[in-house]
Amino acid sequence: MKSLFAVKGNIIYTKELGKFEVCEQGYIVVEDDEIIGVFSELEEKYKEIEVIDYGDNLLIPGFVDLHVHAPQYPNIGLGLDKELMPWLETYTFPEESKYKDITYAEKVYSRFVHDLWKHGTTRAVVFGTIHKEATKRLMDLFAEAGLGAYVGKVNMDRNSPEFLCEETQNSIDDTLEIVKEYKDKYELVKPIITPRFVPSCTPELMEELGKIAKEYNVPVQSHLSENFGEICFVKELHPDAPFYGSIYDMYGLFGDTPTIMAHCVLCSEDEVNLIAEKGVFIAHNPNSNCNLASGIAPIRRLLARGIHIGLGSDVSGGHTLSMAHACVITSQVSNIKWIQSDRIDKPLSTADAFYLATKGGGAFFGKVGSFEPGYKFDCLVIDDSCLPHFKPLTVMERLQKYLYTGDDRNIKARYVNGKLVNEPKVIA
Ligand code: GUN
Ligand code: FE
Repeated sequence: MKSLFAVKGNIIYTKELGKFEVCEQGYIVVEDDEIIGVFSELEEKYKEIEVIDYGDNLLIPGFVDLHVHAPQYPNIGLGLDKELMPWLETYTFPEESKYKDITYAEKVYSRFVHDLWKHGTTRAVVFGTIHKEATKRLMDLFAEAGLGAYVGKVNMDRNSPEFLCEETQNSIDDTLEIVKEYKDKYELVKPIITPRFVPSCTPELMEELGKIAKEYNVPVQSHLSENFGEICFVKELHPDAPFYGSIYDMYGLFGDTPTIMAHCVLCSEDEVNLIAEKGVFIAHNPNSNCNLASGIAPIRRLLARGIHIGLGSDVSGGHTLSMAHACVITSQVSNIKWIQSDRIDKPLSTADAFYLATKGGGAFFGKVGSFEPGYKFDCLVIDDSCLPHFKPLTVMERLQKYLYTGDDRNIKARYVNGKLVNEPKVIA
């Protein structure tokens, strides 16, 4: 039997860049996992259905984090006065080596999944570590929690410390095992091929990963043109490659299956052309890019090229899981970019940033991140009554105030794929 219900409240979402859709005291009608529509009055045929009335609260789409590293959660807030490459060596790699211990992995990963839930992230695209068992456990924890995720076992077989470097064949075998075991295991949690970045993967490994992606139709994620030092290293390793992204492309890891490239701060014109041509998604991580002195990605120009873009927390290059914070810093850095581009690249508005944090990244999951008919019902209920209001505010202003000054305590309920998701268990 189909389930049919409605939620009622002050509905706000984005169908397109730069423009909020608002329905005050409206109804979202949901059938099973999908939205039928947003209505200001319930039609006669829906008069008998259950209505969950959230009063004066805001109803917004769940947040999508398009780029986050689960094993880096213990390092959140640490070492962020370093640039990317020294930060990886001193903080990130030693922490990631701990996940060969499944007990440690379970402790951190259960808290990580819990805290994504807490911050209202309903779908995430996640890096694990090189460790097969810990990565499987992370996928199970997402599924048990009821959140949506793509989760990648990281591949690294060169230029990595001995304690975090794989044999090429083991890396391939472990990846294949996870793909086969998890491809159809869960509805909302799926594997994703995850070469860490070009410096840490041999051409042989990348070639095999491309073949696995193609044969099993699995998506791909990696890092691209993030930081000056990283790009110089890639040039040294591949002097004949026309640009960084062409190396992934050569091995079938650049849009042959759905692909996310994180950062793209310093892409060349040719690289941007290939991203656009191959429909590669960009995960924009401004919090991380500020912390690790990477720079500001030219998001307005990339959007003008029709490139798919979503936002990422990039924890722990970024120091918070909050996608509300990601919206704010997206706007802030775009203001700086505008000044630095002689006021050519128009700043991103709150509606632009909110679109990127919901529908922009949600597109990687299919029809996710909006309240349009046919979209999966992922929703947050926002109670902003404790935020100081000294004058009447529009629904749009209330959302803006929540994004800028609210926090996870304002989130009263979360729905994913049509289901209310309760607080996940944390394993001590
Ligand atoms: N490039 C390669 N690995 C990483 C990582 O863990 N974080 C970030 N921000 N960039 C990377
Ligand atoms: Fe990253």
